[in-house]
Amino acid sequence: MIIGGKNVGERPLILAPMEEVTNPPFRKFCKRYGADWLYSEFVSADALVRSVNKTVKKLTIEDSERPVTIQIYGRFIESMVEAAKIVETVRPDFIDINFGCPVKRVAAKGAGAGMLRDIPLMVEMTRQIVRAVNIPVTVKTRLGWDCDHIMIDEVAERLQDVGISALAIHGRTRSQMYKGEADWEPIARVKSNPRIRIPVIGNGDIDSPRKVKEAFERYGVDGVMIGRAAIGKPWIFKQIKHYLSTGEVLPELTVAEQIDIIKEQILLSMEWLDEVRGLFHMRRHMACMFKGLSHFRDLRIEMLQAPNIKVLWEVFDRIKERYGSGVLNGENSVNEGGDSTPD
Ligand SMILES: Cc1cc2nc3c(=O)[nH]c(=O)nc-3n(C[C@H](O)[C@H](O)[C@H](O)COP(=O)(O)O)c2cc1C
Repeated sequence: MIIGGKNVGERPLILAPMEEVTNPPFRKFCKRYGADWLYSEFVSADALVRSVNKTVKKLTIEDSERPVTIQIYGRFIESMVEAAKIVETVRPDFIDINFGCPVKRVAAKGAGAGMLRDIPLMVEMTRQIVRAVNIPVTVKTRLGWDCDHIMIDEVAERLQDVGISALAIHGRTRSQMYKGEADWEPIARVKSNPRIRIPVIGNGDIDSPRKVKEAFERYGVDGVMIGRAAIGKPWIFKQIKHYLSTGEVLPELTVAEQIDIIKEQILLSMEWLDEVRGLFHMRRHMACMFKGLSHFRDLRIEMLQAPNIKVLWEVFDRIKERYGSGVLNGENSVNEGGDSTPD
């Protein structure tokens, strides 16, 4: 599929933007395992305009990641336009505007999903950003502010009319935050609206190859965006691709294989940040791993509390010793000692 002159692959699998998660080291792994299109974490327009070091670092991209999007958020048109121009200088393939972040510190100030309460401002901001840069601009948003205000049908048309190149929709409202289940019916409705010509990307609760197939076949989306299910499991993209092309579910990686991958991720994270923060940062990923392993509770705590990689590597050795060749996760939980109760 070509979007704004950029090839993002056929039925692309897209890594969702995730704050403190989708940094360059993590994106590298998602790319390795088959993600077709990567998003940065969101970048504060105000902080970018003020050249805050930590924020500027979030603009780092490599050619090997392409196609790659940098996402920005903010409340004011002026700083958002300024930020988009700064982002353009590092030459991402796309600039995405975040109109979906539900967290209080963002949405309550009118940025992110807060913009769903002021559609004219959202549209005007988008129009000015599209005009200000020479790379394709996309938007990621939610269904509406709350279930009494599902705005996505109108929002999609109006944003298309001011020139966005694609629209990613998370099938929840702002007030739902992450609760309940994502509703894909409104996403399908936008996609089947005869007025909508831009690609529609579906997002929300995709955590298996079968759900991706359903997203394409039942809801008709042009791309599927995956967030939480990739944390601690960047190889999910490979599993999905394999299923889509063969109809066959790949066996889950063994515990030992998963450990080898997370060790590599940790080393890269430490290189990207520093030893302490790099390890700390990876706890979120480790916390999502090895779900379903029986009698794992104590080792999990040791793993998550390891103060340095010397200690962590020892913990990994013990995990490998105990569960190494076992396959885990979901249907394939591995058990030590024959007890099937997960911790
Ligand atoms: C830790 C975390 C950070 C997130 N940060 C962002 C962000 O920076 N920008 C954004 O548009 N969405 C962000 N999201 C939302 C995700 O992109 C995605 O829309 C949401 O998690 C639903 O998809 P999923 O069910 O596949 O996780 C974040 C989600 C999580 C869990």
